[in-house]
Amino acid sequence: MSSNVYGFSLDKPYYLRSALCELGLSAVSAASAAVMPMPLYIPLATATFAGFMGVRHALYYMHSRKGITSLNDGNFFTLSPDAMREKRIEAAEDAGLDDNYYLGRGFTWTPRYMSLYETIKNDPQFASLSDHTNKAGGKPFIHNIGKAEEADRVANLKEHTLIAGESGSGKTVLLNLLVAQFIQDGEAVCIIDPKGDKDLLNSVYALCQTYGREEDFLFFSLTHPGKSITFDPMANALKSNDAANRITSIMDLTGGGKTFQDYCWSVLNLIAESMINGNHKLNICNLLRFTSINGMKELHALNNEVLFSITNENQRLALTKSQALLDHRSNHPSEHFAKMTVSLEPLLLSLGTGEVGHLLSPEKADTSWKDIIKNRRVVYFNLSSMVDSYTSSSVCKLLVQDLISYIGQMYAYEKKPSRIKLICDEFYSIVYKGFGDALNKSRQAGMHAILGLQTESDIAAQTDKNMVDVMLGNLPNKISLRISEEHLADKIAKKFEEAEHTTIMKQRSTSAAPTDSALLFKSSTSERTQTRTQTIVTKEMIMGLPQGQAFVYNKGMMPLKIAIPMLELEAGVRFFEDILNREFRLAPEDFFAPIDKLIGHSGGAA
Ligand SMILES: Nc1ncnc2c1ncn2[C@@H]1O[C@H](COP(=O)(O)OP(=O)(O)O)[C@@H](O)[C@H]1O
Ligand SMILES: [Mg+2]
Repeated sequence: MSSNVYGFSLDKPYYLRSALCELGLSAVSAASAAVMPMPLYIPLATATFAGFMGVRHALYYMHSRKGITSLNDGNFFTLSPDAMREKRIEAAEDAGLDDNYYLGRGFTWTPRYMSLYETIKNDPQFASLSDHTNKAGGKPFIHNIGKAEEADRVANLKEHTLIAGESGSGKTVLLNLLVAQFIQDGEAVCIIDPKGDKDLLNSVYALCQTYGREEDFLFFSLTHPGKSITFDPMANALKSNDAANRITSIMDLTGGGKTFQDYCWSVLNLIAESMINGNHKLNICNLLRFTSINGMKELHALNNEVLFSITNENQRLALTKSQALLDHRSNHPSEHFAKMTVSLEPLLLSLGTGEVGHLLSPEKADTSWKDIIKNRRVVYFNLSSMVDSYTSSSVCKLLVQDLISYIGQMYAYEKKPSRIKLICDEFYSIVYKGFGDALNKSRQAGMHAILGLQTESDIAAQTDKNMVDVMLGNLPNKISLRISEEHLADKIAKKFEEAEHTTIMKQRSTSAAPTDSALLFKSSTSERTQTRTQTIVTKEMIMGLPQGQAFVYNKGMMPLKIAIPMLELEAGVRFFEDILNREFRLAPEDFFAPIDKLIGHSGGAA
């Protein structure tokens, strides 16, 4: 028993059986002393000895039971945002708060724990650590083996961060914990929510209320246009090729392919160029308006008038040139144009008409990336695809492209890094071609992205499968909650360093056989040790995590094993129930007017 690395034996049933047999034998021997005609010392000695052994095994049983219970203990815990902040300050005492975020209670996952994990797993009595005694599921012992070293932990998340975890693993709880710290720190925060997560929305708004940032809170929603701010996701497309890149990168290419995409790109590039040269606002509505044969003719006519008023010689030249190209293109056979732009039209129509069109191409937008970053807003883009998933995912991508474009410009031209946190629960909603690269550059320019990843199959369905590897490469910090998809769990585990570990393999041949001898407690347990090298966190460990628990990977550091707290929020105004879905009766002409009042924000685009 002393050989148990975890301090007690998992073999609770064996001790119980032994104790019962021995105590039984002790009682029978004692009784037989009274009735059997034999010297008294024989049954008394047996009774005493069996009694002693029985008591010993009973104590072992109790010890084992207590141990197993504590290994199976759940680790759910809650904290108020203020208490969390205090713990963060304490835990980050030496390192300082900057970029150090509180993640919960945990310990450093050293090779010792890896060995302990493997040893427990290889114990023949492993089954007594069941999965279902705990409401958080998974294998709580993964965390409980380190209870003795458990402390409040922060991690440096200066770099982009991946949060991997299947649905129900605790991603929203963790995102919430991080967002709370961003709000407490007074950061500019952009949350892109492709799922319409009511809990996250309510919580972000509640946190803004708690920390006096209600005025900073901005809400955008395609499904609640009457309560949404307006936002122009093309506002920072300063060049025609930028606009063309963005639109073609989100086009649905089924049935089309590269040739179609290239054709659309050249058409868009030409139209955007003509719009810029002719001083027309480069927004989606206008792109829709001019992207057709008639539209190009209309643009050509408008620009002919503009040409007269232009005094700048360079602009005149540029416009004259684009007019000639426009003229040439609009005189192409129209069936050809229609065939080639077949996938462009539905995209521009979905983004440029109706309420969506109004929200994305306003005369003057309610806010801008500049306003959000400069005035440290907390902007929540609710892009749940209740209406149409193609439109929502296109908007997600346009928003991110514009943000990256804006901070890139700030950095390149004004040598000023922006500071903004970008949070998205499902990264595949915002990835487009070239996203990995953009992410890389945006880090320098001041953006910190926290992106969620659920399953690999989701990604394969949405974009190209290699995207997972691209993202794993571009998001240096990784926090892994439970993942059941073996392939993905394996991919993430492989990011953790390798280490050597020693496993104690135990084998008990049989349970003690009563017929064997008078020594009922005799059992044969053999142990051998095995040394192997593997990643310090394995796919099995990731697949076995209970809800709300994670492994944290920080480059160059030992991993952390953490249990994440759920934030207890004060009951205040619930954004989803009390503001968003309150019965809403307004005359149609007032539909868009009271946004400022509803959102509690009066600033326009700065
Ligand atoms: N620290 C925690 N304390 C209590 N419950 C938790 C904790 N972490 C996760 N949970 C439970 O797990 C559920 C799922 O978590 P959630 O963050 O919504 O998962 P996901 O976003 O990954 O689908 C929560 O509703 C909550 O009941
Ligand atoms: Mg969630």
